[in-house]
Amino acid sequence: MRMLILGGTAFVGRTVVEAALSGGHEVTLFGRGKTGTELFPDVPRLVGDRDSDDYRALQGTSWDALVDVSAYVPRHVRAVAELLAERIGRYLFISSGAVYDWAQGRPGMDETSPRLPAERTTEEVGATTYGPLKVACEDDVMAAYGQRATIVRPGVVAGPYDSSDRFTYWVRRAAQGGQIELPGGRGQLEQPVQLMDSRDLANLILALLLDDRPGVYNAVGPAEPVTIAGLIHACAAAAGSVVEIVPVAEPAGGTDLPLVATDRSRWDIVGHRSSARARAVGLTATPLKQTAADVLAWDRARGEPPLHPE
Ligand SMILES: NC(=O)c1ccc[n+]([C@@H]2O[C@H](COP(=O)([O-])OP(=O)(O)OC[C@H]3O[C@@H](n4cnc5c(N)ncnc54)[C@H](OP(=O)(O)O)[C@@H]3O)[C@@H](O)[C@H]2O)c1
Repeated sequence: MRMLILGGTAFVGRTVVEAALSGGHEVTLFGRGKTGTELFPDVPRLVGDRDSDDYRALQGTSWDALVDVSAYVPRHVRAVAELLAERIGRYLFISSGAVYDWAQGRPGMDETSPRLPAERTTEEVGATTYGPLKVACEDDVMAAYGQRATIVRPGVVAGPYDSSDRFTYWVRRAAQGGQIELPGGRGQLEQPVQLMDSRDLANLILALLLDDRPGVYNAVGPAEPVTIAGLIHACAAAAGSVVEIVPVAEPAGGTDLPLVATDRSRWDIVGHRSSARARAVGLTATPLKQTAADVLAWDRARGEPPLHPE
């Protein structure tokens, strides 16, 4: 497959590039040339900037498949469609679980669950606009490519190169062993968590392209339900450490510990999305302990820099 990847040099896209290269595909990258410039020296790079609508390097090109990892606002999607819509076999858009309207969701919700209203009045990507902007992107992708569009909606992604530090925080903390205070009281131990291993996500993306599958796919994992306590224990097991999780009251100002959600009203919905559709077409399920072990090894190899969990 001749693939163009818009992005590909940070985390999610980088993992897709690695999977595509190991699958023997012909990969070309498009980006500003700012991130991960030392990566993939044998992969051609086209230089442009989506924020200033600079796509000159893509003019006249055509591709079996395009993976759009770096679109956050509908203008990004439309500009590529205007240039290349008839010159791409399949367009795969990386959306997000943030498109869903959790208030209308149900436990086990699938891809048909209602989305938030599309945002088209701002390009400021923030906590409240990220999901609605992705909704607008999805709508424009469907309008431009129809049956040639594939949309993947990952939940929180975890794996080596993750710059969000959310899972890495727990991997590193659990490896230290000892008592870990978990705010929210005893019931917090049961908080469900969904994490998508970045390598499983990349393999899904490749499978969807190779099998030429249209439509929308939730991408959440691991295969078996896990609680926040189970996640911390899996991280400890990966490190060979011993931890004791101590439930404590939530501080007055709330907690900013990553992946800890003390608002229980949406646990059953946000933490129990269905990825059955993706599993049916080959979404793999790396065991959480393995994801933790790989993140631990990567974090140690890079010298454990200070973390700033999102
Ligand atoms: N991480 C998660 O938990 C999670 C969950 C759900 C969805 N997602 C989705 O995954 C994607 C993020 O993945 P990632 O950042 O890890 O992907 P990535 O493709 O590995 O990295 C982002 C790429 O975009 C390029 N880029 C940034 N700004 C650009 C611009 N203005 N013009 C052209 N290229 C630009 C960067 O290169 P240059 O800097 O060189 O331009 C870089 O190659 C997003 O679509 C996000 O919504 C992530």
